[in-house]
Parts: sequence; structure tokens; C-alpha cells
Amino acid sequence: MQRRRQGEAGFDERVITRRNLFHGVAGAALVCSLDGPSALLSGQRTSAGLRAQATKRLAPFQTDLPIPPVLEPVSTSGGVDRYEITMRAGDQQILEGETTEILGYEGMFPGPTIKAKKGRRVEVTQINDLGEDAVVHLHGAVTPPQFDGHPDDVIPPGEEFTYEYPNKQRGATLWYHEHGHGFTAKGVYEGRAAMYLLEDKEERKLDLPRGRYDVPLMIADRNFDVDNQFLYPGTFPIDGVLGNSILVNGAVSPRMRVERRLYRLRLLNASNARTYELALSHGESMTQIAADSGGLLPKPYKRRVITLCPAERADVIIDFRNFTPGSELVLRNRAGESESTRKVMRFDVVRGGKETARVPKRLRDPVLMPAVVGERTFDLTLDTDPELEWQINGLGFDHDRIDADPSLGTTERWHWVNSSDSMHPMHTHLAHFKVESVGNRLLHPADMAMKDTVAVPPNETATVRVLFAGYPGRYVFHCHALEHGDRNMMAQMQVSS
Ligand code: C2O
Ligand code: CU
Ligand code: CU
Repeated sequence: MQRRRQGEAGFDERVITRRNLFHGVAGAALVCSLDGPSALLSGQRTSAGLRAQATKRLAPFQTDLPIPPVLEPVSTSGGVDRYEITMRAGDQQILEGETTEILGYEGMFPGPTIKAKKGRRVEVTQINDLGEDAVVHLHGAVTPPQFDGHPDDVIPPGEEFTYEYPNKQRGATLWYHEHGHGFTAKGVYEGRAAMYLLEDKEERKLDLPRGRYDVPLMIADRNFDVDNQFLYPGTFPIDGVLGNSILVNGAVSPRMRVERRLYRLRLLNASNARTYELALSHGESMTQIAADSGGLLPKPYKRRVITLCPAERADVIIDFRNFTPGSELVLRNRAGESESTRKVMRFDVVRGGKETARVPKRLRDPVLMPAVVGERTFDLTLDTDPELEWQINGLGFDHDRIDADPSLGTTERWHWVNSSDSMHPMHTHLAHFKVESVGNRLLHPADMAMKDTVAVPPNETATVRVLFAGYPGRYVFHCHALEHGDRNMMAQMQVSS
């Protein structure tokens, strides 16, 4: 099958026109389109193909949950862990007996996990063998600007770049992914997403589940074409690309054998645009212990439903001791629109071992923020004239423009005013924030801890208190519905020292 490469499909050309904005659908769902016959063709192939193949190969709970390999450093001398990653094509078996081409880190999806320790620097040399530009961003990390993966800082094909991560922040579940402007969505979809688990001493002291009982779960939806390849559609809803299969660690709705003990599951929503409402079957609760880049919460919270918008993370503990061997617990997505998008994965309980892990009553001191010194308001809108563009304060991304100029070490109150009919998961680089309010909603305390991404619902306002800590320099903030970010819902801040 002929894969469409970045460039061929004209992804960075201005391809969304008013004409095809309303493509094919009478007033109802707004649809974006990549111009050109190939895009339309592939759009048709999707539905025909998926109809033809609504068969066993996409059935849930058929495959065991894969665990992405943990990357071995190439050297650990001088207090630095050095890694090398080649971004390249690779064949992966996702659907039984078939291979799917990945353009990923080491040719895998998810890419290899990096395990880092607070206070120990990590250097990752990313070698670009993709045949197209790439940028790597470590989401949730506090890094000097030249290593943040600003969309301008592309690694051209055939070249490499070494990112340096100081790891001075608290332990947290981070992830690295594609960040080139105009091709982040397609790049992530093709496979460029992986976990980066940062651990610190305080966390190490707690008796939380570890080793094989500490499991990253990268959740991402995909469509497959008739040739079993990821299908990045030519036409898609205005809210971004949604897949009709849910993949966890690269497997379609997998099953995981669990012992009767505690597990720490690190949930990451790595989907381009889909929001999940995760809940266990039988109304069982999960205990949330960490969120986003803030890492451990002050204390654990039992929750029946955890909502994750694109890029959000939640670490949860599930206690499988309450279940008899043979029990099957399904992790459901209550927000799914179909059978397949409602089934995330299944836990199959087997006998227990002796449990030594526990969930402490207190996890860690909250982050204290200095008093607010300023406020900024960002209006989130859709402009369709002359072409579709998502905007922040009436403007699309411009790398020559600075949209905010906070000072290092200060706190500001930011209002994201969503004046559109779409949800925008807003994300800040470098700076983390606490959510103060989202419309008039009652916020769960776990959602008010230190975060880096927050869902701003249609026609509501989210107010956050942002702490600018770390390094001075130029960083982006943007909508993490990846198609929105690519279509210019991105702005820049210049943090001054
Ligand atoms: Cu997860 Cu600017 O990205
Ligand atoms: Cu980020
Ligand atoms: Cu958006």
C-alpha cells in the first residue's frame, strides 16, 4: 500500500478552505478536508474498508497488553544517562497476522519508555531517519528552551539532535512526542509517542506498587485501512481525527492478566482529539495518586470515573485483591460513541501473590505558588474566513510574535475563554498550573493539582494559576487537540529572567 508521506499530501500547505469545510454534510457535522483527490479517495476507502473488515481482527480483548520496552542508556558516565533513538519506519504486528507500518521512535508504537531519576540529567540523541522533518517535545518537562522541542527547531531528515533534560522537577508521568508545526497530528498518529517516567526519592520511599506492577497505559485511537495500515483520514470532523479502534500500548482493546494485588497504572491519553471518561465495569473505583506533570497528589482519591482529554495523565491504583481469580474487569470509556470505542481494555484476574505495596494516606506536600502578579485572557475561537483557522486572541500561530511575557518565578492567572463550539485541551510548555475553575463546574480536588493540560469545554472559561518556574526563554502554549494546534491554535510566551 502506498503510504502518503508528509509533504505529498500537502499537510503544511494551507489546504482547508471554506468550500470543503462544509464538505458533504448538510449542516450537521462540520468536516475538515485535506484538498485533492487522494484525500477524498482515502476518505472513501475508510468507510468501505472498515465495513468490509468489521471482523475478528479488530475484536476487543484478543491480544495481550504489550509493554513498551524500557530503553537502555548507551552510557551513564558523569552523572548523565545518554540515550540514542532512531526515528524510523518499522513494521509492527498490531492486527493478528498482519503488519502495520509505524513511523516512530525506534520504529515502534509506542516508542521505548525512558526511565529517569530526579537530579540525574538525561540526554537523548534523536536521529531522524524518517525521510521527513521531526521535532521531539518532552511533554510536561521543565527544560531550557533549546531542548523543549519548539516547533521551529526541526531535525531535518538525515540529521540528529541531542536533547538535554535536567530532570530537576518532581517525579511525574511525562511523555515525548512529535511537535512539528503543521504535522504534529499526523506524526503522532504515525506512531511518534512514548512514555518518559521520572521518579524522585520521596516517591521511592512510599510503598507504591513498582516494577511489573507499575504499568504505563498509553491510550490512543486509530483507524485502520483495508491493508491494516493506520489511516490518517483526509476528511475528519472539525474537532479532530477520531479513530474507531482504541489502542492501549499499541494493541487494540487488549487484555491484561493481573494478580490479586495492587497495580499502579499510568494512564495517558495520547489520542489526537478523543476525550475519554474511564470507568471500571461493576462500578469499581480507582484510586488516583498522580496527575499530569505535577506527579503525586497530596493524597489519594477514590474515583469511579476519570476523564482524560488529549495529553492528560492520571496515575491510578487498582486493588485487584477484591476479585476472585477468573474475574474480568473491563476498563470502559463512557464517552465512546460505539461498541469499539467504549472498550478500552480488560483486566483478567489470576491468583494473588503476597502484597507488600499499599496506598499511603498522604502522598506528598502540595506545590506552593507565589501570589498572583498578573492576569491574561486568551480568547479561543474558530475563524473560517478565508480558510479554517483556530485562533488565540484572534490570531493564529506566528513564530515571530510573542503573545505573553511572564517573568520567571512569578504566578499569573490565565483565563482561557472558549468562544467556540469545540472543546480545547489547553497545554502550556515549561510552566505548570493549578486549575481554579472551569465554568461553574464542581471540580474534583485531584483535577486541581499541578497540571499541564486542562480541558476547556465549548463556550466555557477555564481559569488557571500558572507558575513560571524553570528557565527563561521562548516557549509555546497551545491546544492539544492536535489538529487544532497544527491549524494554528498555538501561541508563544517569552519568559524573562
Ligand atoms: Cu504534548 Cu506542546 O505538547
Ligand atoms: Cu508539552
Ligand atoms: Cu482545540
